[in-house]
Amino acid sequence: MTRLIVSLSALLMTVSAPFADPVVDYAENCQECHGVNRLGGIGPALIPQTLGRMRGPNLVSVIRDGRAATQMPAFGDLMSDSRIDALAAFLQEPLVDVPPWGAEEIMASRILNEDYQPANKPVWSSDPMNITLAVETGDHHVSVLDGDTFETLDRFPTPFAVHGGPKFSPEGRYVFIMSRDGWVQKYDLYALKEVGRIRAGLNSRNIAMSHDGKWIAVANYLPNTLTILAAENLSVAAVQEIKGKDGTPSRISAVYQAPPRKSFVLALKDVPEIWEVFYGPNPPHYGFAHDWRIEGPAPHTKPFPVRKITTPDYLDDFFFDQSYEYVMGASRSGAGGQVIDLVIGQKTADLDLPGMPHLGSGITWQHGDTTVMATPHLKDNAVSVIDMQTWKTVKRIETLGPGFFMRSHENSPYVWVDVFFGPNRDVMHVIDKQSLEIVKTLRPEKGATVAHVEFTRNGRHALVSIWEDEGAMIVYDAQTLEEIRRLPMKKPSGKYNVWNKITFSEGTSH
Ligand code: HEC
Repeated sequence: MTRLIVSLSALLMTVSAPFADPVVDYAENCQECHGVNRLGGIGPALIPQTLGRMRGPNLVSVIRDGRAATQMPAFGDLMSDSRIDALAAFLQEPLVDVPPWGAEEIMASRILNEDYQPANKPVWSSDPMNITLAVETGDHHVSVLDGDTFETLDRFPTPFAVHGGPKFSPEGRYVFIMSRDGWVQKYDLYALKEVGRIRAGLNSRNIAMSHDGKWIAVANYLPNTLTILAAENLSVAAVQEIKGKDGTPSRISAVYQAPPRKSFVLALKDVPEIWEVFYGPNPPHYGFAHDWRIEGPAPHTKPFPVRKITTPDYLDDFFFDQSYEYVMGASRSGAGGQVIDLVIGQKTADLDLPGMPHLGSGITWQHGDTTVMATPHLKDNAVSVIDMQTWKTVKRIETLGPGFFMRSHENSPYVWVDVFFGPNRDVMHVIDKQSLEIVKTLRPEKGATVAHVEFTRNGRHALVSIWEDEGAMIVYDAQTLEEIRRLPMKKPSGKYNVWNKITFSEGTSH
């Protein structure tokens, strides 16, 4: 009935302009680029899930003024303010129908690059293990850098709005990059060429790569599915609907790889469960029900047994110990966290972590005779350091504001943590791994957001982002903490070093 009214009113509005109807305005002015159903085309998807981070006035100004140097035109001369307001409000309404996005639709979206020729060895002479990528979100590109000379080997376009960390294949030759609109791009670092891309979801969170490099799992919000792709050719291996044990559909907050367990582990947004999806040849016997097997379409049909573990709370954001037996999860309420033993499938400890820990960017190191894990908090001016044997908080290190990313390296005595939110967004703390004290606070550019650190292969240099439209990547000497170089970049976010990622360095998240 509502639909009928909407379409009736749409009809009326077309004949009786100047009354604006955002549905009609959308169809006539936006649909060709942003897609039927607002799910994207040349332009990104325009749905609440993706526009949430754009505050109301921002949304209006993009429509009114367009985006310089992109295909997004300005509509200020064509539409009155009230029509633009109505359109902005309409874009923030949830979709009434989510179109099917199953194996068939996903396969049909795959685009393989016809110009791509695999190279048997790199077309460059840098150290392949020290290749470092910088994601530049300002204009949707990735820079491929030599981690010794910081020379740019290539700068290639990505899908709109890269989300989550890119994943390298185990030998470091390919990288897989995911965008907020669910596109997964495969790029060959040896040939410096895109291999292809496929839209694995309509709105997605992140990807994980199996330890053998065969499978890529894509965590989707929209629809409520997990997509598994064959890494080799980006074909669809499986699409699994996510429904809790009682049938409640759920979004996936994130997917993680658990290499020793040969599984993917899923954090679920809407049900208090952890899922483990096995891809190895002999999955452990957890008494899988038959309907827990995901069957994929031919020719890559493969069962992926799924195990559902009920947890005492909704857990959003995970960190694993080195053995991948224990997973630390942050509770959705922000009140603390829990440790789940994946072998027995039960909670074994509570964590004292108020203020929304960002476990996904946690790191570990040896401290005395134990291993500690440290995490920043999204809503607290602190870094928590936790003993991984007792699960007790060893120390809360006070910072100048809530942080987002934290990094170290086996060869570095320091941990770097940013202040991502609040008035001190322009600082970066350097913490001594043994004394657990802040030994230096860097402020490389007053007023500019400074965030995310990555180390080069041997830990000699720390790379820091000036996270601004006309930003930069700063190269620091990781020992003396002196700035060595600044490479201009367009809103650089994450940096990813091949060696640190493929060897699962304890100083970086995975
Ligand atoms: C000719 C193609 C085209 C048309 C027509 C068009 N857009 Fe866009 N739009 C784009 C592109 C491309 C971008 C991405 C720009 C960028 O790189 O930041 C974009 C970005 C946007 C964004 C920002 C989204 C984000 O997540 O950052 C909004 C909002 C938007 N468009 C709304 C509209 C509306 C509303 C209309 C119709 C009145 C419209 N657009 C018409 C191509 C188009």
